[in-house]
Amino acid sequence: MTYLHCIGAACGATFDLHTPLMACPKCGELLEVIVDRPKADASELKREWSERRRSFAAVDTSGVWRFREALPQYAAEHVVTMREGNVPMVRAQRAAEFAGVTHLHFKHLGWNPTGCFKDLGMTTGMTEARYLGAKVVACASTGNTAASLAAYAARAGVVGRVYLPAGQVSMNKLAQALDFGAEIVEVQGSFDDALNTLLALPPEEVYFLNSVNPFRIEGQKTCMYEVMEERGWRAPEYLVVPGGNLGNSASFGKAFDELLRWGLIERAPKLIVVQAAGANPFARLWREREKNPDAVLKPLEPETRATAIRIGNPRSWRKALHGVESTGGMVIDVTDDEIGEAKAAIGRDGIGCEPASATTLAGLKKLREADLVDSDAEVVAMLTGHGLKDTAYILEQHGAGSQGQQEGH
Ligand code: F0G
Repeated sequence: MTYLHCIGAACGATFDLHTPLMACPKCGELLEVIVDRPKADASELKREWSERRRSFAAVDTSGVWRFREALPQYAAEHVVTMREGNVPMVRAQRAAEFAGVTHLHFKHLGWNPTGCFKDLGMTTGMTEARYLGAKVVACASTGNTAASLAAYAARAGVVGRVYLPAGQVSMNKLAQALDFGAEIVEVQGSFDDALNTLLALPPEEVYFLNSVNPFRIEGQKTCMYEVMEERGWRAPEYLVVPGGNLGNSASFGKAFDELLRWGLIERAPKLIVVQAAGANPFARLWREREKNPDAVLKPLEPETRATAIRIGNPRSWRKALHGVESTGGMVIDVTDDEIGEAKAAIGRDGIGCEPASATTLAGLKKLREADLVDSDAEVVAMLTGHGLKDTAYILEQHGAGSQGQQEGH
């Protein structure tokens, strides 16, 4: 049976899968989906998943639903999909040299339908919303979740409403949300204030699609299935991911648990989460736990030019911490200047990404310089957003912002 389970160590309450809950009503902790063990064995699953790449059926062309044995089950016609997933893993030589490593691949999640990894979780979240008969879906967002929700809500034929921190969202992402017909609510303050505003609404009125929704995590975890498949079901030594609200890191940790439990891989990669130094509550927690293993996350007022991860109170920190601890990984932070240099290095490989994504390369360089990662280690780093997601940042970085252009004329 597939069901919802509270992650609270002292609670562990369970609920029917389709109960629309964003937190445990008993203890307030987050919930996770516990997926029933697939009927087929590991080698049958691997064969089936790879054979689906030759099919043209909608649920097979999706790089998320291709792995549906590892997901909550739905009838194919209920699935809201736009062929998300199945994105390339690309080798990047100049970026590797920049970081001082020899075996570096980027898994480019920015090459998803709306240009970001959020689509992987939105297809599962929106499918559950449709299954429940939701009429209005909503999220708080630094921009990418908003664009993704807007697109998938349009596909599902429901109202999409997005709560954005006023003046803190890239215009490109705002333009996407407008283009896809979402209702925009601007909130004074940060992403954390926008999320608090949303979560205070009566849940009967809207279905929440932030990553506190356990169905979002289910879709996002599948990119780890895909990475392992592409590598012949052999884990790299390190898997590097940016950390904001920590939904993505949480989903990777969950994927590794399942892949190991179901005999699909023999060992997991070490999960490395990289935050921006001005929005680093998780990295601070990691450092504090060296002295005090019971320390809990302390929210802070975030500030970084990588606006996608300008988050001070990440909700999924306990889940993400499990992923890092269980794999022997690390949490680190990098400055905005280090992010800028890393982004330019990725660009010189002909690969665009947004600033938040470049934290991965900046973090890898930092770990290499501290000799915490060997130069010949196999590393897969996640690029979470497309290069065109934040063009103002790029133009400014190269002195070609609107100011610069005007001066040039
Ligand atoms: N990279 C990009 C491009 C993002 O948009 C986000 C989060 C992250 C990394 C961090 O992922 O939150 O799962 O740790 N963006 C959210 C949004 C918060 O609203 O679009 P996370």
